[in-house]
Order: sequence, then C-alpha cells, then structure tokens
Amino acid sequence: MPAVTKLSYLGFNVSDFSQWHTILFEILGLEARQDSPQGQIQLRMDSHHHRFTFFESDTNSTAFVGWEVDSIDQFHALYQHLQQLGIGVELASPQDKEARQVLELMKFRGPDNVAMEVCFAPFHDNQPYEPSCTRFGQYVTDDQGLGHILYCHSDMEAALTFYRDALGMRISDYIHWDEARATFLHCNPRHHSLAICNPCFGTGAGELNHFMLQADNIDDVGQAYDRVAAMDVPLVLTLGKHTNDQMTSFYMVTPSGFAIEYGYGGAEIHDDEAWEIALYNAPKVWGHNLVE
Ligand SMILES: [Fe+2]
Repeated sequence: MPAVTKLSYLGFNVSDFSQWHTILFEILGLEARQDSPQGQIQLRMDSHHHRFTFFESDTNSTAFVGWEVDSIDQFHALYQHLQQLGIGVELASPQDKEARQVLELMKFRGPDNVAMEVCFAPFHDNQPYEPSCTRFGQYVTDDQGLGHILYCHSDMEAALTFYRDALGMRISDYIHWDEARATFLHCNPRHHSLAICNPCFGTGAGELNHFMLQADNIDDVGQAYDRVAAMDVPLVLTLGKHTNDQMTSFYMVTPSGFAIEYGYGGAEIHDDEAWEIALYNAPKVWGHNLVE
C-alpha cells in the first residue's frame, strides 16, 4: 500500500506577521528567505528550500499540511489509491508546484476538511540554513521530516481510518487523560509525525493544536527556554517530559492560538514488529505544567 513517509511542510495564514518575529526568529532561530514571493514569508530550518510559508491574510488559520512520499512510483500509486477511495484528489498546477518548490504535488481534503497536500522531491537549497539566533546544533529532520503535528477531529474513528488507510500511517500508541483521547501515528522513525485527538482544551474539530520542532541537543532547548523567560513569551506548558515519546519539551503560545512545542530526545520506532503499542494514562512523566 502506498504511504506518506514524512511531514514535509506547513502553511499558515496570519493577520500580523510582526507578532511572530520573536517566537520564530529569536526563540527558534528559523531563517526567513529574502527571496520569498510577494505577500509571503518562507522560512527555513534545514537544507530544504523552505519548511514554512506564512501568508499575509485577514485571518489566522492553517493554510495547508504538506506530506511527502519517497519516490515517484509512490507518488503515482498514492494518487491512484486516493482516487480509488473516492477522495477528491487533484494534481497541482505548475504554479502551485513552483510555489511549494517541489517536483510533484497533489492536493486533497483530509478529515474535517483540513487542506492537505502530498509532494515528491522538495527542492533543497545549495546554500546552508543560517539560524537567525545562536544554536549549538541542528533540527532533527531528514528522514524524520519536519517534526509532528496534533490535530483535533470531530470523528476520531473516521480520522484514524483516513490516516491509516488513505495515507498509510501506523499507530504508535495512545494517551487517555482527563477529557482527552489521543492517538499517535508514525510514518518514519520519529515516534509520531501526527497525533489526533477529540476536540478538547480549547482546540476545535479540524484545528491544529500544535506543531513540534525537535533539536538534536538539549542545550538548544534549554537556552531557548531561558530566552522565552527573558522575553516574556507566553507558555502553554512548562518544560517537561512526555510519557510516550519521552520528549523533553515546552509549549509556547503563538499569535494564531495554536502552540509550538520545542523539544529534544524523542523516541524512535525502527521496527514495527518489535514495537509494543501501549495505552498511557497521562501525557507527562514530570513538568509540562499548564500555564493559566
Ligand atoms: Fe507534541
């Protein structure tokens, strides 16, 4: 069965990009492309041409979630597979492929009408990523993709079926706590590239709760945490460690309402046969205290 293998890129509509400067540049050290098209800001975090696109808009919303496949054969097979499932999938125009800076691109709607895309062969820049603030190391990307996202969905059963049967993702584990029922899915060694949850904690159906970026060393996360305190960046959750993926991380509030998790040390799944799927009764081992 064809399957996506990475979370590749994300797009956001934002009403005031200036509000994002501190979090994106001074905390996370992303790089804004000086050659971004008019009305957009494209951001880098690794060798990819860009991983994020922020569109100047009247609203604040997620514009698209971009997944990636590993081969042209997988791209065509996935396109046929989605068609056979009755999912309204379209091959993108040359203009859209140019905008995303990918060789091949298809578009469709996921659960709760979330705009999704799958690309093959994103362009890599011959110039290295230049962090906009001091960083000791790199982001963990490459074969693990951009990071992970957590979406809330109105019908968890239907959403899980879509991500497993249409996109070929595999279940990592589950966490049930308070009113939350979360299922974690992987498509590469990263413990999860996607988590799905019932609408809860203020995140509605079809809305992004947070995305996560992972550093390859704890010091980048620790120094970013110091900068967050010094710059009064609002937190959702304090520094803490997750039960299931063992990630040490903290969560920041963004101007669009969703959160950004920044972490280190996430677990990896290299052998699905050997991996034991567990149900946890809490998301944290320590920390991750809710900031009111
Ligand atoms: Fe997360």
